[in-house]
Amino acid sequence: MDRRGFLLAGAAALAAPALTGGATGAADAQAKAGGGALPVPPLVDADGVQPLTLNARKGRHAFLDGLPGPTLGYEQQYLGPTLRLRRGRRANIELGNRTDAPVTAHWHGAFVPGAMDGGPHSPVAPGARAAVGFDVDQPAATLWYHSHVHGRTGTQVYHGLAGMLIVEDGAPPAGLPARYGHDDLPVIIQDRSFDSRGRLVYGSGGMALMTGFLGDTITVNGAIRPVARVPKGRVRLRLLNGSNARFYDLSLADGRRFYQVASDGGYLPAPVARQGLRLAPAERAEIVVDLADDTAPLALVAAPVENAPMGGMMGGAMMGGGAGAGGAGAGGGARATVLTLAPDPALVPVAGAMPARLPAPPMDFGEPVRRRDFRLTMHAGSMAGSMLRRLFGNAGSVMGLNGRSFAMDRIDAALRLGETELWRVSADMMAHPFHVHGTAFQVLRRNGRTVDPATEGLKDVVVVDGGGVEILVRLDRRADKASPFMMHCHILEHEDAGMMGQFTVG
Ligand code: C2O
Ligand code: CU
Ligand code: CU
Repeated sequence: MDRRGFLLAGAAALAAPALTGGATGAADAQAKAGGGALPVPPLVDADGVQPLTLNARKGRHAFLDGLPGPTLGYEQQYLGPTLRLRRGRRANIELGNRTDAPVTAHWHGAFVPGAMDGGPHSPVAPGARAAVGFDVDQPAATLWYHSHVHGRTGTQVYHGLAGMLIVEDGAPPAGLPARYGHDDLPVIIQDRSFDSRGRLVYGSGGMALMTGFLGDTITVNGAIRPVARVPKGRVRLRLLNGSNARFYDLSLADGRRFYQVASDGGYLPAPVARQGLRLAPAERAEIVVDLADDTAPLALVAAPVENAPMGGMMGGAMMGGGAGAGGAGAGGGARATVLTLAPDPALVPVAGAMPARLPAPPMDFGEPVRRRDFRLTMHAGSMAGSMLRRLFGNAGSVMGLNGRSFAMDRIDAALRLGETELWRVSADMMAHPFHVHGTAFQVLRRNGRTVDPATEGLKDVVVVDGGGVEILVRLDRRADKASPFMMHCHILEHEDAGMMGQFTVG
């Protein structure tokens, strides 16, 4: 079905919440909420001699002041600790499950064998435990971890089963802020919605299936519009879009430049000056902001990005004008505060001068020996009637990869260990963040245009829209039929509905 056909079939249902909309009874509370201190998850080593205990658990967390509601977390009430792994050591984690449903911990972006990947084939039952061990051998990078049980990933991540994962590779580059919680901050950006009692609201039917679930309030590390006290100097933000479906156009409120120093797979070859950055679900970017001359607080803000089947990807000024998703209440593309950086003279700046070069990982893919085509598809059949039923009813097989909905017992591709392949990935109807497990890849072309590796870096998520992308992929870890790697759309409702495939490496 094309966009016009979809529009005719589903226009009435297209009313995704805008960021500043008041769709819930807690709207007033939300408008007033927030402004507290940025919560910084504890940093814990996950590569010790003793296994690190990581229990998925039920929690209670108050997003809105005085209104705690049920959540999930790893060890914590909501989200999990920031795990640190050092190259050359071995990850050593004991994963437990104290929730009521099977969970996993998938190490998103980590180069691990399929058997340790924490994907849909490795569920840990309630009350059970699982040992995780793998050799850490990849460049320094900001990764993350989250539950990945097929059909439950969206709701589990939404309620809190996610955390940041930092891989270190020797000493940090001289000059870059690197003191965790001081001038090096984890920033997990997620949109959430609440009911009148402040409890999380989640649904994955109807429109939430088509666009992915969009919350109406931005949170950072579980807090609304938090304030981080930072030194009057340079500050590094490890930005992670941990949202189920929402894209963000991030910038600083006064329009000043910042430097991007890393993307998904690690450092860029040199800092890249930017005024803005678009972050799709599951993408990471490390940025450095200079507050040496500031006395007033500076906000990190997000302009709404529209991404819906009827219109594809639009951003900034295009928001708010048209009928349909995101229009009402969006304030013509008004920017929302994500996080405020408050320079505090009492905190000592410790970072040195900005480095001119960074230890970027090599992009040594060589010539591809094979080519594959993947299409992220939003319809397995094409009859309008079945589309309508699917749109208003449940997912069924609407979402797929190359027209087929995910099946646990079907292997979609068999890769050879260490062989570089060229993948051409295209997509239906809207922008989809495409993710590959077990590796990081190089983006060659986007919509027919050559991509500069110096500004893109190594990626494990790439946005696929319109003309599609071409990527160079090489897997250096094995995965067999019992625990294959996944490739999927990281809009979690699309993934849960079957926009996912799996591959072996041998
Ligand atoms: Cu972030 Cu298949 O995962
Ligand atoms: Cu992953
Ligand atoms: Cu998708």
